Amino acid sequence: MSTPTIAQSGFETDVDLWSDEVLADPYPTFQRLRDIGPAAYLTKYDMWLTTRYDIVKGALNDWESFSSAHLGGIALNPGTNIAWHGSALNTDPPEHSVPRTVFDNALRPRHLRNSLPDIDARAHRLVDILLEKGEFDGVQDFARDLPLHIVMDLVGWPQEGRREMLEWAEGAFNAAGPEGNPRTVEGVNRVVAAMKFLSETVNADNIAPGSFGSIIFQAAESGALPREFVPITLAGYLNASLDTTINAVASTLWLFATHPEQWQLVHSDPTLVPSAFSEGVRMESPIQFFSRATTRAVDLGDGCVIPADSRVVHSYGAANRDERHYADPHVFDVRRNPTDHLAFDFGVHACPGRTLTTMEGHALFTALAEKVSTIELTADPTWTPNNMTRGPSSVPVRIRAA
Ligand code: HEM
Repeated sequence: MSTPTIAQSGFETDVDLWSDEVLADPYPTFQRLRDIGPAAYLTKYDMWLTTRYDIVKGALNDWESFSSAHLGGIALNPGTNIAWHGSALNTDPPEHSVPRTVFDNALRPRHLRNSLPDIDARAHRLVDILLEKGEFDGVQDFARDLPLHIVMDLVGWPQEGRREMLEWAEGAFNAAGPEGNPRTVEGVNRVVAAMKFLSETVNADNIAPGSFGSIIFQAAESGALPREFVPITLAGYLNASLDTTINAVASTLWLFATHPEQWQLVHSDPTLVPSAFSEGVRMESPIQFFSRATTRAVDLGDGCVIPADSRVVHSYGAANRDERHYADPHVFDVRRNPTDHLAFDFGVHACPGRTLTTMEGHALFTALAEKVSTIELTADPTWTPNNMTRGPSSVPVRIRAA
């Protein structure tokens, strides 16, 4: 990694972005960091950080300068980058198109539309059950339902291992954190367990026929995907299809519970659901950070030059709250419709799962909007800090029928 140079002068900060305190409420820190300049240099970690919307978007769109493969990959420590070798996340074009095509083939909207009736039906049944209960946990009983049932079936996982998957996925995001951080250390152990499952247990015979996972084995069979990359490509589904969507749904539910006037708008006009879900994802970006590495010195303006071979963390969460781009960025406004938010990334690595997550979020909140007049907290939610993701771990709520 680069040695700090004079070019960093004026942009340094000793803030510890991965401390429990900052992760618990990152927004005041993000505000200060956006004001430092186009990028900030994190002295504690010898890494750069971008937080402004235009800078993050521009960098994500310039994979030749901000590489996903250089210096090992996009995690913040070398061990996890080695474990993720060959993944879509850790490759640049043209190699990137090999794993990426496998995801695009499975997740294209035309293909996913076949699952829409099942997703809608399950969401409606779920809301009926929750209305009977009246009080429930918005994470355990609501946000986890579709990812743990419909999505796991779409991926085609064997039954064995499904119970551990949530822990493995949460661990994978922690494992991408900075070296030495206790969450990183614990996350790495879970990645080891997950990779053992993916390489020793999952195979072409026990993955469901016609599933997303089976497309990976077919690609290996045809020679389109090197066989040794099957487990890490399967990990793309394990890591990305659970916590991300669960955080998006749980955070949006929490925002509704704490902004009853916004829920009333959606309840009286359910066509606002797509705009409101997009706003929930903007406000509480489910993945807060990932990084790139510079292949050359990059001049971001205002005298801020990031040297070549630097680790650069991009904050989707900070960019999505940038007052330079969004008016009143800390206000939850269900009519804002911020479809240009960066929570799903931008450019060659833009999330291929966006349509699936959006289908899940729209189904759940449309069912709620049609049937539920009020959502209120019955106790404070809890938030467990994660190195890369953000979302509540419990949202105790009470709902009332319309
Ligand atoms: C709210 C839900 C989700 C969010 C916020 C999200 C966010 C992201 C982000 C930020 C990236 C880019 C990482 C980078 O460029 O370094 C990404 C990539 C990816 N996501 Fe998602 N994701 C979500 C749901 C899903 C789902 C449901 C799936 C699969 C079923 C999925 C599969 C993937 C894969 C395979 C990649 C790697 C793509 C590549 O590197 O080309 N994601 N996601």
